[in-house]
Amino acid sequence: MILVTGGAGYIGSHVVLALEEAGFAVLVLDNLHHGHREFVSPDLLLTVDLEDRQGLAALFARYPIEAVVHMAAFAYVGESVRRPELYYRNNIYGTLCLLEAMVAADVRTIVFSSTCATYGEPEEIPLSENHPQRPVNPYGATKLAVERMLGDFGAAYGLRSVIFRYFNAAGAHPHARIGEDHNPETHLIPLVLDAALGVRPHVTIFGEDYDTPDGTCVRDYIHVCDLADAHILGLKYLLAGHPSRTFNLGNGNGFSVRKVIDTVEQVSGQSVQVRVGARRPGDPAILVGSASRARQILGWKPQYPDLETIVATAWNWHRYRFGRQTSGYVPVIVKAQGIPLVGV
Ligand code: UFG
Repeated sequence: MILVTGGAGYIGSHVVLALEEAGFAVLVLDNLHHGHREFVSPDLLLTVDLEDRQGLAALFARYPIEAVVHMAAFAYVGESVRRPELYYRNNIYGTLCLLEAMVAADVRTIVFSSTCATYGEPEEIPLSENHPQRPVNPYGATKLAVERMLGDFGAAYGLRSVIFRYFNAAGAHPHARIGEDHNPETHLIPLVLDAALGVRPHVTIFGEDYDTPDGTCVRDYIHVCDLADAHILGLKYLLAGHPSRTFNLGNGNGFSVRKVIDTVEQVSGQSVQVRVGARRPGDPAILVGSASRARQILGWKPQYPDLETIVATAWNWHRYRFGRQTSGYVPVIVKAQGIPLVGV
């Protein structure tokens, strides 16, 4: 049985589904602070907090847990700057509680969700796993601290870990009713989709004076189902007895903010009102990663690498989740790249 922490979240729920499809028995731990109860089957969900040491010990005593996929974390860069204590407590102390409970229960296999935010300002593009890690915000710092904690627990207790450094998770499951829903929403694609739906009046581009082809920031968007597939491969890699390893997960293609907006307009058939605002502090001009290690060692191959498909799956979900709030909303079935998407 695999324990997935944060399994009721955006990426976590996709990982839970992929694990079930791969034949694993799954248990979800989520305190539902940001997670969504309806994203997982009720029979899988335990609403235990990572800081609840007794709850964790009871869980490990009761269930035959073979490995943990640890995705529970706070992940708002801006909030981490304003309220760092939340991030140090939840992301670092919470993980410490989890690792101690794991070692006590003799569970020594973990897949951990880290981030390209641990790199900080890139020295070269694409970023490889060997790029120096100098995070520029508390969120990235807490994820880096956990990466180091995993290394130390590995040396001391034989804990083996796969660390995944995600680039920009995007899109939604094409067939299931799960997708991106953050409160508050700060991510580009759902905000542009909101503008396309008329839920928000416009989207603001945070700076168009970057040293990039069209002046707006460039990011590496990776489909959430491709992230989920990587977790299955990472887990199988560890369960086969291989040593701890760190992998970037991205497509290796960069898309500008303007390109994302254009793609939303094209996919949705709606025009999006755009304003140009100031740069957002802490945003590097370009973040694009090389995932060649994951491709070579894990055999990972993203199934949804093109931006149109990523946006189409996100649009399909977004209209279902948020579209009913708009008057005169007419459901449309989106089809992209031959992938049939569920209608609304
Ligand atoms: N952007 C806008 N307007 C908006 C929102 C975003 O122009 O209203 C821009 C941002 O400036 C950035 C790009 O769109 O250039 C993507 O922004 P997101 O907020 O969607 O994503 P980030 O790249 O900031 O964040 C992602 C993950 C974080 C992770 C970070 C690493 O969501 O968890 O990458 O840098 F920490």
